[in-house]
Amino acid sequence: MRAVDLIQKKRDGIPLSSMEITNFLTMYLDGKVPDYQMSAFMMAVYFNGMTDEELFAFTENMMNSGDTIPLGDSKHFMIDKHSTGGVGDKITIALAPLLACFDIGTAKLSGKGLGHTGGTIDKLESIPGFSFPETQADLMQLIEKTGIGIMGYSDSIVPLDKQLYSLRDVTATVPSIPLIASSIMSKKLAIGADGIILDIKVGHGAFMKTEEEAKTLAATMMRIGKHFKRNITAVLSGMEQPLGFSVGNSLEIVEAIETLKGFGPTDFKELLLLIAGNALMMKGIADNLPEAISMVSEKIATDEPLNNLKSFIQACGGNPNIVDDYKLLPIAQNTRSLHSVNSGYVHEILAEDIGKAAMILGAGRATKDDQIDHGVGVVLRKKVGDHVNENELLATFYFNDDKQLKEAEKLVLNAYRIQQNETGAPSTIKDIIY
Ligand code: URA
Repeated sequence: MRAVDLIQKKRDGIPLSSMEITNFLTMYLDGKVPDYQMSAFMMAVYFNGMTDEELFAFTENMMNSGDTIPLGDSKHFMIDKHSTGGVGDKITIALAPLLACFDIGTAKLSGKGLGHTGGTIDKLESIPGFSFPETQADLMQLIEKTGIGIMGYSDSIVPLDKQLYSLRDVTATVPSIPLIASSIMSKKLAIGADGIILDIKVGHGAFMKTEEEAKTLAATMMRIGKHFKRNITAVLSGMEQPLGFSVGNSLEIVEAIETLKGFGPTDFKELLLLIAGNALMMKGIADNLPEAISMVSEKIATDEPLNNLKSFIQACGGNPNIVDDYKLLPIAQNTRSLHSVNSGYVHEILAEDIGKAAMILGAGRATKDDQIDHGVGVVLRKKVGDHVNENELLATFYFNDDKQLKEAEKLVLNAYRIQQNETGAPSTIKDIIY
């Protein structure tokens, strides 16, 4: 069948067979389907969705378009935790050393930050001397040595996703649930972790703005995972505000370490414990989630996770002493306080705007080639549910260049939604799907 006939079927809502999806993607990879036909196809998917047969075939072809990383030989039980991207999300940095205490390895390809969300890669690269493994062999060695395997996305893993994502980006077809689900899951399936935990963010700072959309995305990804016989759990977590207090690379490293020392922000700690607890359940070393969470909590009070983090940093060439001495991190020396102009209760902190404020100070990239400043960012002093007095401290900026400071102040001030009626703190965890 010609590409145009397949596009026409998809346009008219007629389901395609797995074979038709495979043929279409194979022709695309062979250069026989041009980008304009692929774009038309994806627009048809945007409007008509995908049947499960189409979705599974699409994901499988994506997964097999490049290298895979089978982890079967690892001595560890391996977890791949994936977040759909939020503001202040430093979960991986605290989670991996915590799981290593239970002989649970982490295998993760992480992204660099783009736009208002930060990337784990940038956060860890703020540690002096730190560099990620570049090859699969180096990644495996790191996992065997430390139980923690994190590296940047490689062009050789699911290369088809990279091609399709660039097309989606310029054809307004990014926000399509089957395209997002297959894009994320093909990369998860390409890595042979024993368990996949998805952290699907919902709210202003997230891809999914409503709980309904987030649940649909979660259910779609879970169906893909289960079809490919993977142990998979999804957590829906709120983005009514950034996670924790700190937004910015070194600042987030400090917050993750402080959490492992037992001093973390409540919302961050709650999500961390929940995800770690689910990893213990997947490994089968706890009978129920409350027991798993209390096992993880007990570890937080010990030196073990900090020692695991130090070993990981050292194995990546970084200075492990940052864990005990934050002055070794490149945190910006200039600070500016932002005070509230009215009093009341904090109802919402528009996470996207906080992310943008950190980005314009230099913590993130507007385009993928921008250089970032690892030392800058925003530390929130009030969270949703808190009472604030007029002129009370709302946030602190860490900056090296004051050119964008005014704009950042404006964004953060506007991000704080303060009202007279009292609101409690929102629940961080919206749902857990098994
Ligand atoms: N993240 C991905 O990897 N793919 C998408 O399509 C959206 C978010």
